[in-house]
Amino acid sequence: MNPVLQYLADHEHEFVESLCHYVRFPSVSAQPKHVKNLRDAASWIAERARGLGLETTVHETPGNPIVVARTAHQDPKKPTFLVYGHYDVQPPEPFELWKTPPFEPRIERRNLYARGSADNKGQHLAHLNAVEAYVRTGTPLPCNLVFLIEGEEEVGSTQLYEFLPKHRKDLACDAVVISDNGIPSLEHPALTYGLRGIAALEIRIDGPSRDLHSGLFGGSLENPAFALCQLLGKLRDQRGRITVPGFYDDVIPLSAYERRQMARIPHDDRRYAKFLGVPQHTGEAGFTANERRTCRPTFEINGLTSGYQGEGSKTIVPAWASAKITIRLVPDQKPAKILSAVKKHLQSLCPPTVRLTVKHGHGGEPYLVSPTGPMAQAALRAMSAGFGREALLMREGGSIPIVAAFKKHLKADTLLLGMSLPDDNPHSPNEKFSLDAYASGMRMAAGLWPELARACA
Ligand code: BES
Ligand code: ZN
Repeated sequence: MNPVLQYLADHEHEFVESLCHYVRFPSVSAQPKHVKNLRDAASWIAERARGLGLETTVHETPGNPIVVARTAHQDPKKPTFLVYGHYDVQPPEPFELWKTPPFEPRIERRNLYARGSADNKGQHLAHLNAVEAYVRTGTPLPCNLVFLIEGEEEVGSTQLYEFLPKHRKDLACDAVVISDNGIPSLEHPALTYGLRGIAALEIRIDGPSRDLHSGLFGGSLENPAFALCQLLGKLRDQRGRITVPGFYDDVIPLSAYERRQMARIPHDDRRYAKFLGVPQHTGEAGFTANERRTCRPTFEINGLTSGYQGEGSKTIVPAWASAKITIRLVPDQKPAKILSAVKKHLQSLCPPTVRLTVKHGHGGEPYLVSPTGPMAQAALRAMSAGFGREALLMREGGSIPIVAAFKKHLKADTLLLGMSLPDDNPHSPNEKFSLDAYASGMRMAAGLWPELARACA
């Protein structure tokens, strides 16, 4: 066996130990009480990189630190690849739904349970472990590598957006590699060549100046909760299509090639509905479940608030009602354009009996790279070799908005090589990471550099 792969096989136990250590930092970026834990996680990963001889800097920012680690003696004749990851994690709440505490790793049947194990600590640590195998066996890397590990991905990457244009020279690369996504199964590894974008907004309907007695006044004025429901109800038609004029204008249609590739991903309607916990799954007419959740835009109500929500009843006409919305976008939809189309449509639908306010939130562009280009094909081969099964092509429904910024500032394409399985529970209680995916991911990461370097030559 080649010495790099042999090293990975011989040291699997240490790699698991080291991931257990990493997930013990409660690096929750959404909660200010964890700032110290975020710094500690950044220092720990930086120290690991330094230990491998990587030139490592922990960049202070007004937010959480950004870690940059580059392989020593960078050779301008070799291609350079940037590996991106994030050491911050989602809030673990609700604690009572975790079988064991979220920051006390537990291993059960080849799964490591902990917040951040899959999203994203395990996945970028796998890349660093693969570099360890090169370094410790004295195997020269066929390329220069730069690791970029941030601490605000789960809250919008504010600092990294500032950092990127200022450090575009240090971060210059031939391609970006990200493992912060999933694969259909261990038997079906895949290269992700597209991501959805996102546009967030909040809708508020204001009615009377205060909650009113519904017996005394109800019937003589508009109920804001009702008005909001009717407004939202008009946004989707019988066929599951969004009715906002122009909503689909910029959507690049799926090619026959893409649809064929996607159809190779195993899917069973009944099992999928069971997995979701719904009596029957549904969505936009004319598309498969996998197409609907990865390649089609959606309009999702994330939360609805109005009136009295406490115990028992309270007979009122509420003063206001609000909804939190996120729209998932696909190439070539633009967040700003979609937001203004939605706002305009809502205004045209709103009755004169209430006041409507639409507040724009964060946005992120969708992403698409050619699945047939030389880099993508090289990545597919590395994926197949690492997992020991033929890799498929897929697109993902989730969003990694910084990927569009990599393209803009570094002019580099991103290859998404996920290691997370569909039942890993990212953002949910009992998040886990499969130790088999971890091991295969490390083998993939080791084989990736020769493949990509050849594709660049
Ligand atoms: N790693 C995920 C995104 C992801 C998951 C992409 C699976 C593809 C497949 C990331 O940590 C995440 O949760 N992103 C957010 C971004 C949003 C808050 C802007 C998302 O998709 O909701
Ligand atoms: Zn996440």
